Amino acid sequence: MKHFLQFNDLTRGEFEYIFERTRWIKDRFKRYIPYQPLSDRTLAMIFEKQSTRTRLSFEAGMHQLGGAAVFLNTRDTQLGRGEPVEDAAQVISRMTDIVMIRTFEQEIIERFAKHSRVPVINGLTNEYHPCQIMADIYTFIEQRGPIQGKTVAWIGDSNNVCNTWLQAAEVLDFNVHVSTPPGYEVEPERAGLYGEDHYEEYADPMDAARAADLVTTDVWTSMGFEAENEERKRDFADWQVDAEMMKIAKKDALFMHCLPAHRGEEVAAEVIDGPQSAVWEEAENRLHTQKALLEYLLLGKVAPL
Ligand code: CP
Ligand code: NVA
Repeated sequence: MKHFLQFNDLTRGEFEYIFERTRWIKDRFKRYIPYQPLSDRTLAMIFEKQSTRTRLSFEAGMHQLGGAAVFLNTRDTQLGRGEPVEDAAQVISRMTDIVMIRTFEQEIIERFAKHSRVPVINGLTNEYHPCQIMADIYTFIEQRGPIQGKTVAWIGDSNNVCNTWLQAAEVLDFNVHVSTPPGYEVEPERAGLYGEDHYEEYADPMDAARAADLVTTDVWTSMGFEAENEERKRDFADWQVDAEMMKIAKKDALFMHCLPAHRGEEVAAEVIDGPQSAVWEEAENRLHTQKALLEYLLLGKVAPL
C-alpha cells in the first residue's frame, strides 16, 4: 500500500507512469468515452481548510471513474470535537477504500496515514501540496515537453507549493530559482529536501526569473496564516510577477499559479490573463492527473509504460 503524503513518496518512474496514464485518461474523457475501473470504490475527503479545485477535482474524478466520494469537514464531524486523528483513521479507513486530507500540519496527515488501512493522499498541508505540483508538471510537459533540465522560477513565499516544487526538482531533475523577501527564505528541512543541488536563491526576483522556462507564484498569505496578512502585504510588495518580469524569462516561458489568485498582489492581471498564462489548463489537469493517481494507488499498474 502506498500513500501520497509528499511529492517524493513516489519515484520518477512512478510519475512517468502516472503522466502516461493521465494522457490516456484525459484523451478518453475528452472523447466522452466512459472509463470506470473504480466502481464500488469510495474516496473519503476530509477538509480542515477551504477548497474549490481540490474538492471538485477529486469528487468529479472519483465519479467519472465509477466510484463515489464522500465530503467530510471539521465543522460537521467528530474531528472538530477532538476525536483523535488515530481513531478517525481506523474508522474511516474501514469504511472507504482511499482517503484524501486537507489539513494544517503535515504531522496530522502522517499520524492519520500511520493508522490507516487504505492509501492516504495529501490534498494540501501547511508544508506541501503534492497533487498541485503533479498537475503543474503534467501541464508543463503537455505544452513544452520534458521538464528534466529546465528552470522553474518561484517568486514569492516559500510556502507549501514552493516546498513541493523543490521536492519535485529533486525527483524529476530540474532546477528551481527561488526569490523570497528577506525573512521568508526556504527552510530545507521543512521542505523535506535531500540536498541543495536543485535550487538557487536570489535576492532580486528579476534575477530568479531570468531565462526561466516557467515562472510561477502563489498567494502572499496562505490559509492558516491570515493574522500575518497586513505585514506580508508590505514585505512582499516587490515580489509581483508582472509583464516586465515575464519579459526577462525565456520567450516561450509559461506562467502558472495554483489559484485562487490575487490580481495586483502576487501577479499582475496582464500576466495571469495574458498569452503565456497556463492557469486554466493547469487547474483542469488537477482532474486528469488525480484520476491517474487514484487509479495507480488503488489498482497499481494497469498498463505497461
Ligand atoms: N489550487 C488549489 O488547491 O485550489 P483549492 O484551494 O480551490 O482546492
Ligand atoms: N499556498 C496556498 C495554496 C492554496 C491552494 C494556501 O495554502 O493557502
